Amino acid sequence: MSHKRVAILISGGGSNMVSLVESMTGDHPARPCLVLSNIASAGGLTKAAAAGIPTAVVDHKPFGKDRAAFEAELVKPILDAGADIVCLAGFMRVLTDGFVSQFQGRMLNIHPSLLPKYTGLNTHARALEAGDRQHGCTVHEVTAVLDDGPILGQARVDVAANDTPETLAAKVLVEEHKLYPAVLRRYAAGDRTPVILG
Ligand code: GRF
Repeated sequence: MSHKRVAILISGGGSNMVSLVESMTGDHPARPCLVLSNIASAGGLTKAAAAGIPTAVVDHKPFGKDRAAFEAELVKPILDAGADIVCLAGFMRVLTDGFVSQFQGRMLNIHPSLLPKYTGLNTHARALEAGDRQHGCTVHEVTAVLDDGPILGQARVDVAANDTPETLAAKVLVEEHKLYPAVLRRYAAGDRTPVILG
């Protein structure tokens, strides 16, 4: 069986990338083919290289506000790697419709909230400020609207009275590392049934 080839885009430590890479073994229908970052110093690049996965960097800074020019470079290593699926995993650049449309129906993202609540940044602080009793993370298909596409999985955590944004983020991250691999395994097999954890 030929495996689906998965490119993973990161901007930081890449803990979600590591979880995804570690899950793609045995009878899993996919294998990682590239770890790509917009930040040359992203810690995840070292982890990917240590795992023997091809890496690439396309720094967004030289392109300034010209998102299209940045994305025209960003797409090249993804196409060169023959990626069938693109996983955004802590990738911190907003992507235009021009980029997203090239991967419509085959690009995923993990977002640290129970979408549709709290799109955008600072999700944990916002959940605490709202007094939410539950919080969590969502894996969704990427569309041109930020943090909006079809939901493919969610994991919930209870919010404790003494939680801070940091402690809540840490609880959610544990669930992210379970949810994203579970969703990718189904998605790579062509199954879009949502994964609901916790
Ligand atoms: C995590 O908080 C995740 O929710 C978001 O990016 C952050 C860093 O993830 N998507 P990682 O450790 O770089 O995978």
